[in-house]
Amino acid sequence: MATRLFEGKLHASHYQKYRISPPQEIQDLILNYLDKRLKKPFGLAVDVGCGTGQSSRSLIPYFQNVLGTDISEAQIEEAKHADGFPNLVYKACAAEELPVQDASVDLITACAAVHWFNIEKFLKEVDRVLKPHGCLAFYTYLPDMEVHYKDRSQQLTQVMKEVQDALSPYVNEKVQLVRSGYKEIFDVIPYTDKQRVENIVSSFSMSLKDVLGLIQTFSMYQTFLKVEPEKAKDLLETTEKRFLEIMQVSSTETIVELQHNYNCVLASKP
Ligand SMILES: C[S@@+](CC[C@H](N)C(=O)[O-])C[C@H]1O[C@@H](n2cnc3c(N)ncnc32)[C@H](O)[C@@H]1O
Repeated sequence: MATRLFEGKLHASHYQKYRISPPQEIQDLILNYLDKRLKKPFGLAVDVGCGTGQSSRSLIPYFQNVLGTDISEAQIEEAKHADGFPNLVYKACAAEELPVQDASVDLITACAAVHWFNIEKFLKEVDRVLKPHGCLAFYTYLPDMEVHYKDRSQQLTQVMKEVQDALSPYVNEKVQLVRSGYKEIFDVIPYTDKQRVENIVSSFSMSLKDVLGLIQTFSMYQTFLKVEPEKAKDLLETTEKRFLEIMQVSSTETIVELQHNYNCVLASKP
């Protein structure tokens, strides 16, 4: 079953403001993989479950055309409001029914998204649309993250862990696929040329305000907000206070380093 937790307009606007673009390490990994299997210039890349387009926009320099798709109209509307690029279009549609021709796609990506899809149907659709030797790249960050600031990293990371613990009753079962590093998804990919890369560590400099914004993009936070709105808002306010106290600063514009671990599954159609 596909799972739809990203439909709200406010959720989509948080996405546009606070979602992180895929790190360079992931882009390099995917492009090196593709380079060994397809001739340049690369034609069409399709980024499925694109949200507000951060992951689609990262593909623009390397492909003649990029299509970003998402089942949520609200996410696609926000994506369209971001800077326009002539070789990038967005469409609202299900991952399991992509609006592209058979054997027309060089690369299919899904960033923090494939675990939400109906995997069996999606893989059939991927097989239909990929060219021979076309590639897929499904990658995601893991829920646990570290926050670094001067000598306060341990305490800040502990606060982040406690936020994750508070949100744990609202975690959808599909997130288990993320926790296991997409192993189950890797196992059902029908191609023999495939690999799973774990523990790709990436650091992002961002303001504390952006870290708090990022928490609000998590599906589990949005579920918490629906079920217990006051408690959810309180969690954010308390977290902000704790961060500021630990860092001994007064502004949420203060820059910290957020460290994420990514996993990536790559495969190529025969
Ligand atoms: C965690 S977000 C990731 C968005 C974006 N790729 C990013 O990294 O910021 C997952 C996205 O998958 C989309 N999604 C979930 N199920 C889908 C489906 N069956 N078909 C297409 N998109 C889907 C959601 O609407 C949501 O925007």
